[in-house]
Amino acid sequence: MAEDDRKDATRDAVGREIESAMNGQVSGLPPEQAEALREKIRLRVREEIERDLRARTASDRKDAAHLAKEARKKEKHGEEGETFIRFNRNFRFQHMVMFSSVILLIITGMPLKFPNFILSRFVINFWGGIQYSTIVHRIGAAMLIYFMIHHFLYTILTRDGRRDFWLLLPKLEDAKDIVHNIRHFLGKLPDKPRFGRFSYIEKFDYWAVYWGCIIMIGSGLFLWFETDVLRFLPKYALDVAHEMHSDEAMLATLAIVIWHFYNVHFNPDRFPGTLLWWHGRMSEHEMKEEHPLELEEIVARRAKESAEVSNG
Ligand code: HEM
Repeated sequence: MAEDDRKDATRDAVGREIESAMNGQVSGLPPEQAEALREKIRLRVREEIERDLRARTASDRKDAAHLAKEARKKEKHGEEGETFIRFNRNFRFQHMVMFSSVILLIITGMPLKFPNFILSRFVINFWGGIQYSTIVHRIGAAMLIYFMIHHFLYTILTRDGRRDFWLLLPKLEDAKDIVHNIRHFLGKLPDKPRFGRFSYIEKFDYWAVYWGCIIMIGSGLFLWFETDVLRFLPKYALDVAHEMHSDEAMLATLAIVIWHFYNVHFNPDRFPGTLLWWHGRMSEHEMKEEHPLELEEIVARRAKESAEVSNG
């Protein structure tokens, strides 16, 4: 209300000023000519004011749109507040080795499973023929084996590794979270479940890779060293290994493309993806959204530590 009064007072003052300026211009003219000139000036002034106003609102709107865009960007990338280290350098390195090797293995393995598919010939020719593409498959396999050994040692020998392994074990809470989330998706519960350091989605991802690596490395070694295997085991053992390798490859590829890609790339909250795997950091905003229980634990721990320090 006070804002409207102020605007009216400004408008009156401007009107009075224009009128007195106009009177100065038309003084001495016959009354009809003076009125015609006044009308002309009024029209010109109105046009100018309107143009000015239009320009101002357009730039205000542009500013507002720009600010809103910046705010959305900031919120999305979580530039506000503190950032938290979610994955340490060692873990990020393991993840990079793992996903590079899996991509290489899928690209070089699938053309063997689907040799008649139109892209298979192109991929095999890209590596210089089947004899080279199978060598690249073995290079990918060696990288995956290295990753598995590295991760195993990391889990046993480091504090972060032991903590994460323990937190990644499935618990009763996960089953409750799944039910909660389904009810949330169906619109029966307003809020999504509040996750700790690892949600059931991330646990599924982790154990799918764990299981997948054991099957793929085990069966892959059988195929790699088939003559040695045949010295000790019957032929059907090799056939079983081949079947396992081939089917689990399909399952792993689909799990990655459907489950993992949806959760980390195509989910509207994440699209087109995050660089967490590269820098390992998560913003306070993202922590609140995705791991609120872990954030609460961190805050409580810090409060306790600072209380201990101040108590001497
Ligand atoms: C994510 C991991 C992997 C994927 C997706 C994958 C995929 C595949 C596929 C689709 C085939 C063709 C199977 C068929 O003929 O039906 C294949 C063959 C083969 N894979 Fe893998 N593989 C993986 C890991 C491994 C590992 C870890 C090893 C070795 C330890 C390995 C060794 C082999 C060997 C020796 C063959 C037989 C063909 C050849 O001589 O290259 N693979 N793989």
